[in-house]
Amino acid sequence: MDVVILAAGLGTRMKSSLPKILHKIFDKPIIEYVIELAKSINPKNVIVVINPNLKEVEDYLSKYDVKVVFQSEPKGTAHALLSALPELISSKVLILNGDTPLIRKETLLRFCEIFDKNNHDLSILSFYPKREHSYGRILRDEKGKVKKIVEITDLMEEDKKGEEANSGVYLLKRELCELVRDIKENPRKGEFYLTDIVEISVGRHYQIEAYPLAEEDELIGINTRAELSLATKYLRDRIVNEWMIKGVTFYDPSSVWISPSVTIGEDTIIYPQVYLEGETSIGKNCKLYPSVRLKNCIIEDNVEIKDCTVIENSQVNKGAKVGPFAHIRPETTIGRDCRIGNFVEVKKSVIGDGSKAAHLAYLGDAIVGKNVNIGAGTITCNYDGKKKHQTVIEDNVFIGSDTQLVAPVIIHKGAYVGAGSTITKEVPEDALAISRTPQKNIEGWAKRKREKK
Ligand code: UD1
Ligand code: CA
Repeated sequence: MDVVILAAGLGTRMKSSLPKILHKIFDKPIIEYVIELAKSINPKNVIVVINPNLKEVEDYLSKYDVKVVFQSEPKGTAHALLSALPELISSKVLILNGDTPLIRKETLLRFCEIFDKNNHDLSILSFYPKREHSYGRILRDEKGKVKKIVEITDLMEEDKKGEEANSGVYLLKRELCELVRDIKENPRKGEFYLTDIVEISVGRHYQIEAYPLAEEDELIGINTRAELSLATKYLRDRIVNEWMIKGVTFYDPSSVWISPSVTIGEDTIIYPQVYLEGETSIGKNCKLYPSVRLKNCIIEDNVEIKDCTVIENSQVNKGAKVGPFAHIRPETTIGRDCRIGNFVEVKKSVIGDGSKAAHLAYLGDAIVGKNVNIGAGTITCNYDGKKKHQTVIEDNVFIGSDTQLVAPVIIHKGAYVGAGSTITKEVPEDALAISRTPQKNIEGWAKRKREKK
């Protein structure tokens, strides 16, 4: 089988400078879902028909093992298939729309299986939409045989009763594809409609049937921003349901957003408004509190991420607690049982097991050992205006509050740094470093000031 993906339309209803099929659902462009689906059923050949003026689409597709075909002008879906004809090499052709990304592999396989079993010449994947829509309508005769497909804008009043819609997915024998040459221009739209192939085939006594094998949550076509948002919601619901089946608790499934490539361990609890993006994996027994956003993270078992915390491209090891209001920036590893508290920012740093930075700190380009205590208000001064420098804090160090560590600098094992210090030099093992100005008390000063007034 060959798969042809029709993706050369202009997508004008999106009102966007970005080509429609490059709009994303979660982290992935719409077209990527369709290509992955096509590849998942192992066809001989995947052909994507695109618009020659949309260079971005061509560039985007260059990373895929697909055959790109240009449709000289966007003159309709039949004209798009016509552009792909010279590339067809198999006896059967599956046609997918580039803007219909949520079809399940199982549905497609069933559709193909029925086609083979019934020895059809052309099958249509149909459905019954529940909302107002712009899909083509499948019309059947008194005996229930498929007659033709009519676009909603061309429907006669008496045909409006029917509700079976065309998903834009067709499976047909290679020879029937030639019939696109006989399709006439639609007078109203000035386009050549692939859907007209149905009426032509019926007229030539080919075996045709439409199968409503799925709901709109799989077959939604994305033409508008509203449909993009609906598709995202459908996919979200599907993903959240799958994780619930696998043992994850969601307090409010309708408010969380989880990308398709995320994985979550059993007994993890996810509070409302959590956003999990990219290649993120969450361990077992974790708690993700409200408004947490994680992107490309590895979160091990028994981790708690508290409210309003953002973590990107980082790892949090077993039993650690992060947040509320923490910002963990890329290339950070938070060790086992660490505690990173409110208003702590960590960037490109390694925090050793059992260490704590419980409040108000910035740790950038730092290597922190085990069981280190970082006091409130501690800052690694990692940037000198030109370059970034490293701070090394070895095991069991205690950094007093409001300390500035001017990098590059090393604090050796077991040392103490007095609160309010500015550390510019290496601190030896087990030493106390203190750099603040000694305190001076002037007796009676405040009283005298008050009396002067
Ligand atoms: C199309 C079907 C409609 C069906 C719906 C399902 C036609 C005439 N109508 O309508 O019956 O219910 O899909 O979602 O086929 N394309 C090209 N070249 C073109 C025009 C379109 O490659 O010249 C591509 C588009 O990029 C898109 C697909 O074909 O991926 C469908 O085109 P679109 O304009 O979205 O058709 P619909 O109005 O949605
Ligand atoms: Ca469409």
